[in-house]
Order: sequence, then structure tokens, then C-alpha cells
Amino acid sequence: MKFFIDTANMNEIEKAYELGIISGVTTNPSLVAKENISFEERLKEITALVPGSVSAEVIALDAEGMVKEGRQLAKIAPNITIKVPMTPEGLKAVHTFAKEGIKTNVTLIFSANQALMAARAGASYVSPFLGRLDDIGQNGVDLVRTIAEIFAIHGINTEIIAASIRHPQHITEAALAGAHIATVPYKVIMQLFQHPLTDKGIEAFLNDWNNRK
Ligand code: E4P
Repeated sequence: MKFFIDTANMNEIEKAYELGIISGVTTNPSLVAKENISFEERLKEITALVPGSVSAEVIALDAEGMVKEGRQLAKIAPNITIKVPMTPEGLKAVHTFAKEGIKTNVTLIFSANQALMAARAGASYVSPFLGRLDDIGQNGVDLVRTIAEIFAIHGINTEIIAASIRHPQHITEAALAGAHIATVPYKVIMQLFQHPLTDKGIEAFLNDWNNRK
């Protein structure tokens, strides 16, 4: 499973990218709104740094509007992936983008059938939202497992991005469930490093080194 970072904050992207573990970036309108910047300028900055997929979400709700917006966004850099919501209009747009060779990430996936339809429309990625499912008492990881099983049975190449990640346990479970990618907030990426025995081990090694004869 690969890691994407889920943010539009340049400082977080730079710091995470330096770690060598980040293969892509996902943004959404809420994350961009926090930044108080030009979306286009920010996408230029991100794509100049990160060579992998950078998801940019369309705002229009009709297929024609999504296609118009998506084509403009796709011109910013070759590694832009157009993020489209899981609606009938969204899938029409995905179908058009697929014919034009523009990569898409179908977002707000909450059921296996939605993921299957998105894949059949030509989506490059589907994003099931784990945390938001957990919030309403359903199991987000189970959904990833089901989608991965269906895609494997039917030889579907669309990649599964485990999204709405809230804590380190989601990462391990999504990897075991067959997600190809997890898109992770910066805070959770840093939590992945933490283990008391690592800290204790470093302290003991340093003490022994400093007290050597
Ligand atoms: C995915 O691409 C979305 O940007 C994101 O994971 C949503 O997460 P949230 O439920 O924490 O807002």
C-alpha cells in the first residue's frame, strides 16, 4: 500500500514529502478553503514538488460543468487527477475524462456498488471514506475489503484509495484489507512514527554510547 497525503497545506506536503514515503496528494474543497490561497497556484506548487498523482476536486454538480472545470485543472500539470463526486453526473464526467486520457478519482464512496460503478465508468481511483463510515456506526475497513475482493474477482485495475483516515490503526487495517493507497492527514503520518520502545531504545543507546569506557 502506498501513502498519499490528504492536505492542501504546502508546509505539511513539503515536510511529509521529505520523509520519502509520499507518492501523491489529495485535496478537497474543504481542505483548500482552509488555506486562503488561489487553488490553481497551490496546485502548481504541489505538482512541481510531488511527481505522483495530485487530486484536484471539481465544484460543479453537472457533468458538463465538471468536464469544463476538470479540463482546465488537468492543464495545470500532467500529474493532476480530477476528483469527481460519486453521482450520476459525476460518472458521466468520469466517462468523458477516461476517453480523453485524463485520470480521475471518484470521491465520497460509501458502498461497494458505488465503487464498482465508478470503476466501470473508467475511474483511475475510487476513494471509500473510512472515518465517515465509522462515524455513523458502519465499518469503513470492511468496505475497503469488499471493494478489493470485487475488483480482484473481476480483474478491475482501478486503484482503491482508503480516505477519511483518522488514526494509525486505519492504516494497518486498510493495508490488510487490500487498499492500494491510503491518503493520510499530516498529523496521522507523524503518529505512525510513534512507539514508546523506539524512544526508550534511542535513549538507552545514547546513554551507553556516552558512558563508554
Ligand atoms: C479524501 O480524498 C478526502 O479528502 C478526505 O480523506 C476526507 O476526510 P475527512 O472525512 O476527514 O474529511
